[in-house]
Amino acid sequence: MNNDIYAKIKREYDLKRQTKIDNANRKKQEIYEKYPELAKIEEEINNLALSITRNILNSDDITRQVEEENMKAKLDKLKVKYENEVKRLNIDSSIFLPEFDCKICNDTGIVQKDGIVETCKCFKQALINESYKQSNINKLEEENFETFDIGFYSNKRDKEKYGIEKSPLENIEHIRNIAYIFAEHIDDKDQKNLLFVGNTGLGKTFLANAIAKKVLENGKTVVYQTAPVLMDKVIEYKFSYDKTGKQKEQYNDIFDVDLLIIDDLGTETMSNNKFTELFNIINTRLLNNKKIVISTNLTLNELYKQYDERVMSRLIGNFTICKFVGEDIRLKKKRIN
Ligand SMILES: Nc1ncnc2c1ncn2[C@@H]1O[C@H](COP(=O)(O)OP(=O)(O)OP(=O)(O)O)[C@@H](O)[C@H]1O
Ligand SMILES: [Mg+2]
Ligand SMILES: [Zn+2]
Repeated sequence: MNNDIYAKIKREYDLKRQTKIDNANRKKQEIYEKYPELAKIEEEINNLALSITRNILNSDDITRQVEEENMKAKLDKLKVKYENEVKRLNIDSSIFLPEFDCKICNDTGIVQKDGIVETCKCFKQALINESYKQSNINKLEEENFETFDIGFYSNKRDKEKYGIEKSPLENIEHIRNIAYIFAEHIDDKDQKNLLFVGNTGLGKTFLANAIAKKVLENGKTVVYQTAPVLMDKVIEYKFSYDKTGKQKEQYNDIFDVDLLIIDDLGTETMSNNKFTELFNIINTRLLNNKKIVISTNLTLNELYKQYDERVMSRLIGNFTICKFVGEDIRLKKKRIN
């Protein structure tokens, strides 16, 4: 997990927790101003608790024990007195307590289980949410493996129409399995990268999002970008003189993240510069075993025509090619609505 993200969430947690504690204290203070007798009892309780602690440190064993028992009895009495007073004044004592969002970790982000310190579930989720935000993907709640609907793909085989033996349904089930295994084993050297090809509206971006979500859930980093935006950003970065820290970070992320998704390859206007950069990105990532998912509307033939042999041979060799076939789901959904 990205350290910046961790630090950011930790800061937010600390701030949130402190604000809740301050609010609770403020409410308490207001009540005490109204009912000074309550404040007085609490002061007595605090003083007594302090004395007990001091006593443990100072006196010898026997006198200590006797005194301690006396004091503790007194403390208990005071506590009862306090509670009765609260009841008498008809005060809801729960407002004295900070209202933490997470009842498991009290917004510390940490839980202790059998002496082992662990990150709380809520903190992990906050990390994932933040990663989503920073990864340019905003459809992960809708487009994921759980919501991926194979009902949109026909079960009729038609080699002439689809260009493959299998039916679109058989085909998509196979591709979905490949994508799932890929997402779960993102670090595995033996896993190839994925190249999604196929006509518009067949679920390429959807499945790429599903992969992104799973990878993020496993605590890995993802950058999603469409090819035109990605290439523009890269070129802008390369040819700008004063690069900001953020720009540098974004540029490095393209090479460093666990998964890079390049959507809509082939829709960008190509130039020699862009071409060199694209080759550099893919090549560097391949060498470092960092996974890539590429989606494109172009056929393999068109890819060969548009890009250089060098890029293409690397693509073909290191990618599992998933050919999406079927009817435009965008249109189907429009008809339903
Ligand atoms: N398996 C699916 N289940 C439910 N909805 C789907 C599925 N596949 C695609 N869709 C929906 O259909 C529409 C088009 O899908 P998507 O954007 O993934 O297509 P695409 O193959 O990326 O198309 P393009 O080549 O134009 O980018 C989207 O609204 C998407 O949510
Ligand atoms: Mg798409
Ligand atoms: Zn928690």
